[in-house]
Amino acid sequence: MTLAEILKLAPVVPVLIIEEEAHAVPLAKALVAGGLYALEVTLRTPVALDCVRRIAGEVPEAVVGVGTVTTAAARQAAADNGARFGVSPGLIEGEGADGPLPLLPGIATATELMWGLRAGFTHFKLFPANIVGGVGALKAFASPFPQATFCPTGGVDLNNAPDYLVQPNVICVGGSWVAPRDAVQSGDWGRITALARAASRLGKTPVAVV
Ligand code: 3PG
Repeated sequence: MTLAEILKLAPVVPVLIIEEEAHAVPLAKALVAGGLYALEVTLRTPVALDCVRRIAGEVPEAVVGVGTVTTAAARQAAADNGARFGVSPGLIEGEGADGPLPLLPGIATATELMWGLRAGFTHFKLFPANIVGGVGALKAFASPFPQATFCPTGGVDLNNAPDYLVQPNVICVGGSWVAPRDAVQSGDWGRITALARAASRLGKTPVAVV
């Protein structure tokens, strides 16, 4: 699947911090049951790549990706462990759109966006979305950079996600709110499915042409 196809699977990409490998499969199943299919497992715990392998092998409905990819080596490791896409908080020196797996790089400024476009990327994580201008930044980027599409992430939740999703240059949003730490730790998969279901129903709202 292309990055665009993956990002279109649902309006929200869950950002996951998984501390125990045993949580990976039930968490992925809970999210898929709620209608979220592209899952970002962040490289913030020692078991992250083990979790990616488990999800890739045991939850075929999920399209598992790796987040917090900050080096070329991490991108390669993500691919080697079964990830279908990678997400980075920023641009990685020397890494372009072509590589071992599709990558969604983070940008926060016009200059970074220009560097990313030059490296062949067309889809970007606006990060941290709520801090670097949010919806206003996306509107400002739309005219000079019509070829850029965004997945705003960072401070996005069920309440403000609709404001982002209505923007024509937004393909989806990312966020950790669908998998709260306490729910993962206590194995409250029903709560996570409910959060995922609410997120998956957000949808993209067509914008009226005036
Ligand atoms: C992250 O990389 O941590 C994401 O931006 C998630 O941000 P959030 O916790 O504000 O959803």
